[in-house]
Amino acid sequence: MPAANQTSVLFVCLGNICRSPTAEGVFTELAQRAGQADAILVDSCGTSNWHIGSTPDPRAIVAAAERGYNISYLRARQVNVSDFDTFDYILAMDEDNLAELQSLCPGDYRGHLSLFLDFAPDTPLTDVPDPYYKGDQGFAEVLDLVESASAGLLQRIVGGHS
Ligand code: 4NP
Repeated sequence: MPAANQTSVLFVCLGNICRSPTAEGVFTELAQRAGQADAILVDSCGTSNWHIGSTPDPRAIVAAAERGYNISYLRARQVNVSDFDTFDYILAMDEDNLAELQSLCPGDYRGHLSLFLDFAPDTPLTDVPDPYYKGDQGFAEVLDLVESASAGLLQRIVGGHS
């Protein structure tokens, strides 16, 4: 659970082995660089149960490491309805996962449930494309989008808006 003064952020994709662990790693690093590591709790999960307990995809680990982010220690888990009690921001990597989260979301959830790319105003995309069946370029594109949206999200949180 987050401490009382912490803002909590959960990134969600399908498998929790490609996009959302990348987002967790990038956003954690950006928060650290901004001196906000203690102020923000960061986690990620998948809507599916397919990869529970797995490390991120080796291609995601390599692509992240090439830009200085370590995500190799992360392990996949599935979203749980209790996440709506824990997290202030629940951010979906694509429309399908957002729809799944909306179907699980309690009516009294007071946090922010949206697409992650809502925080990346410089892209016309709404979805972070699933790189699982793509080559290395797919993972580089994920990193481009995730870096952009992470910067926007950090600005929103540090700026004190909700
Ligand atoms: P992710 O990517 O949702 O970004 O983790 C995927 C990982 C695994 C599968 C699909 C997407 N899969 O079909 O197993």
